[in-house]
Amino acid sequence: MKDVSTKLVNAGKAEAQEFINTINPPLHRASTILFDSYADLLKSNAGEYDGIAYGLCGMAAQNSFEAAMAELEGAHGCKALQSGLAAITMVLMAYTKQGDHVLICDNVYGPTRSFCDKFLSKYGVEADYLPSDAGAEIAGCIRENTTLLFMESPGSNTLEIQDIPAITKVCQEKGVVSVLDNTWATPLYLNPFELGVDVSIQSVTKYISGHSDILLGTVSTNEQSWKAFESCYNIFETYAPQEDCYQALRGLRTLKVRLKAHEQSALEIAKWLEKHEMVESVIHPALANHPQHHLWKRDFKGASGLFSFTIKDEFENMDHGLFVDSLQLFGIGYSWGGYKSLITGGKLQRTNPFGYEGKTIFRLNVGLEDVEDLIADLKQGLDRLR
Ligand SMILES: Cc1ncc(COP(=O)(O)O)c(C=O)c1O
Repeated sequence: MKDVSTKLVNAGKAEAQEFINTINPPLHRASTILFDSYADLLKSNAGEYDGIAYGLCGMAAQNSFEAAMAELEGAHGCKALQSGLAAITMVLMAYTKQGDHVLICDNVYGPTRSFCDKFLSKYGVEADYLPSDAGAEIAGCIRENTTLLFMESPGSNTLEIQDIPAITKVCQEKGVVSVLDNTWATPLYLNPFELGVDVSIQSVTKYISGHSDILLGTVSTNEQSWKAFESCYNIFETYAPQEDCYQALRGLRTLKVRLKAHEQSALEIAKWLEKHEMVESVIHPALANHPQHHLWKRDFKGASGLFSFTIKDEFENMDHGLFVDSLQLFGIGYSWGGYKSLITGGKLQRTNPFGYEGKTIFRLNVGLEDVEDLIADLKQGLDRLR
């Protein structure tokens, strides 16, 4: 290679292919993946190539993260997607076709509902909303054309819990694919497949990544549901950014210790709020007065750090900015599961009657700060409101 242009294109390639045994997977940046031979290219053309044929097929960091998630959940397979919502929408598309009917629990993440109402409806898929504390009685809502039932348990704002085993039993009997958004519990505190769920979704953005710096989602399924999901996923040529898969894998390594700390601090704050004279109700599944506490005790191995509370009616019509804006340690912002404490607030609407109609629901993402500092911050904030 005499010409400098050729050198510029090819120099250093052999060295780049050296295997270096790092603890973490290598980060590849690639669209084209080179084949070893023309024969391999022809195999790929025919869909018979076993290796990675293109950048969209997933590289080391993605494959490693997906394999780790599948192992953790005991799933048949797992795919990473660009966000939790991308995971949700892909699932809703994978198991529906024109003329189908889906059942969605009322407390799902808002954009999950919007996708059903504004997008699936355009393709002739009808959605009905089940009460957030649904159980075996959902059998009566299943129609001939019902293909999918979507749960979020606990719901990420109002934290109602569904009777997952009772629902999945009915789904199995009626041939309906059961789906669970398991972001709140993570695979550590609830294993969807042990409770008969077919498809498990995680917004990896939350606890698994844990640092509020990436967006990523996963879909894991049992063996029976894998093919339908995989073929839809492949049609869309969806991919997950390799750097984000790397960060997610890094987050996974410390998930257990972080989650325990979130759990302990959140519970301590929830118990403190319960005793506060301005607080009406604290909505936390691990508290004995939570309406589905018995289900939480039966099905979950722990509680994460996201919960909500409401204030007494006499404070309802005040300027809540006095409280929220005065907080020093709770950032005001969406999403959760990260190390920094956050607060959101607002009124929510449901299709079915629900206990917090017209009430402002403050939601706390309890982070990894010192719990005494967090309590002191909430105390001074509530004092400002008073
Ligand atoms: C329960 C739940 N599922 C899914 C999502 C969507 O995740 P992402 O932000 O990764 O799209 C969210 C986001 O807040 C959520 O709360």
